[in-house]
Amino acid sequence: MGKKSLLLVALIAGFATLFIAAGIYAGTSVPDVVKMENKAYEKHKKSIVAFSHKKHVEEYKAGCGECHHDKNNKPLDNLKEGDEVQNCIECHKKAGYITGKAAKGLSKEQKLEYHANAIHANCKGCHKKFNKEKGLKSKDKGAAPTTCTKCHPKTKK
Ligand code: HEC
Ligand code: HEC
Ligand code: HEC
Ligand code: HEC
Repeated sequence: MGKKSLLLVALIAGFATLFIAAGIYAGTSVPDVVKMENKAYEKHKKSIVAFSHKKHVEEYKAGCGECHHDKNNKPLDNLKEGDEVQNCIECHKKAGYITGKAAKGLSKEQKLEYHANAIHANCKGCHKKFNKEKGLKSKDKGAAPTTCTKCHPKTKK
C-alpha cells in the first residue's frame, strides 16, 4: 500500500469513527441481505431476521419509497443508490415491540414510536396485501411471510 492510500484509509476510518461517535445511524450503501440486528436493542428476544434488500428491489420490484420515507412520512420514491438513507430507528426511536396489554390504549402514532412495530407494519403490511392479491394463504408456497417464525426462524437449542 502506498503512502497516499494509507492516508486515505486513515481518513475514512477517522470519518467512520466520527459518525459512530455522533450516533448517526445513516448510510449510503446497503448489503444484499441485511442482518436485522439493530444495535439499539440491548438484547433481541427473537432470532435475527435476514432481510433480502436486493431481492425486494430487483425481484419483487418494491420501490424505495414503499419502505423509506422522510420525517413527514413522505415516501422517498426518488432514492438512488449512493444516497444517504436514514435508519428506521432514527425516528422510530424506541427499541422494542409493544403488543397486547402493554399496547392497550396507545394511539397508532404512539405504537409507531416503537421500532419493531413500525418495521412489522411495513413488512407485514405489504406481505399481507401481496398474499391477498395472489389469493395465497401465509402457509402456501410462494406466499410472502406473515407469521413470526417465517421471518424469525426457530433456532436450534
Ligand atoms: C422492502 C423495503 C425496502 C425497500 C423497497 C428498499 N429498502 Fe432500503 N432498507 C430497508 C431496510 C429495512 C433497511 C435497514 C434499515 C434499518 O435497519 O434501519 C434498509 C437500508 C438501506 C440503506 C442502508 C442505510 C444504512 O444506514 O445502512 C440504504 C442506502 C438503502 N436502504 C437504500 C435503498 C434504496 C436506494 C432503495 C430503492 C432502490 C431501497 N433502499 C429500497 C428497506 C427497504
Ligand atoms: C426521518 C424520520 C423517519 C424515518 C427515518 C423512518 N420513518 Fe417511518 N414514519 C415517520 C413518521 C413521521 C411517520 C408518521 C407517523 C408517526 O408520526 O409516527 C412514519 C410512519 C411510518 C409507518 C406508518 C405508515 C402509515 O402511513 O401508516 C410505518 C409502517 C413506518 N413509518 C415504517 C418505517 C420503516 C420500516 C422505516 C425504515 C425503513 C422508517 N419508517 C423510517 C418517520 C420516519
Ligand atoms: C412493498 C412490499 C414489501 C415490503 C414493504 C416488504 N416485503 Fe418482503 N416480500 C415481498 C414480496 C412480494 C415477497 C416475495 C413473495 C414471493 O414471491 O415469494 C417478499 C418476501 C419476503 C421474504 C421471503 C423471501 C426472501 O426474499 O427472503 C422475507 C424473509 C421478507 N420478504 C422479509 C421482509 C422484511 C423483513 C420486510 C421489512 C423490513 C419486508 N419483507 C418488506 C414484498 C415486500
Ligand atoms: C415480515 C417479517 C417479520 C414477521 C412476520 C415478524 N417479524 Fe418481528 N421483526 C422483524 C424485523 C425485521 C425486526 C427488526 C429487528 C431489528 O432491526 O433489530 C423485528 C423485530 C421484532 C422484535 C424486537 C426485536 C427482538 O428480537 O426483541 C420482536 C420482539 C419481534 N419482532 C417479535 C415478532 C413476533 C412475536 C412476530 C409474530 C407475531 C413477529 N415478530 C413477526 C420481522 C418480522
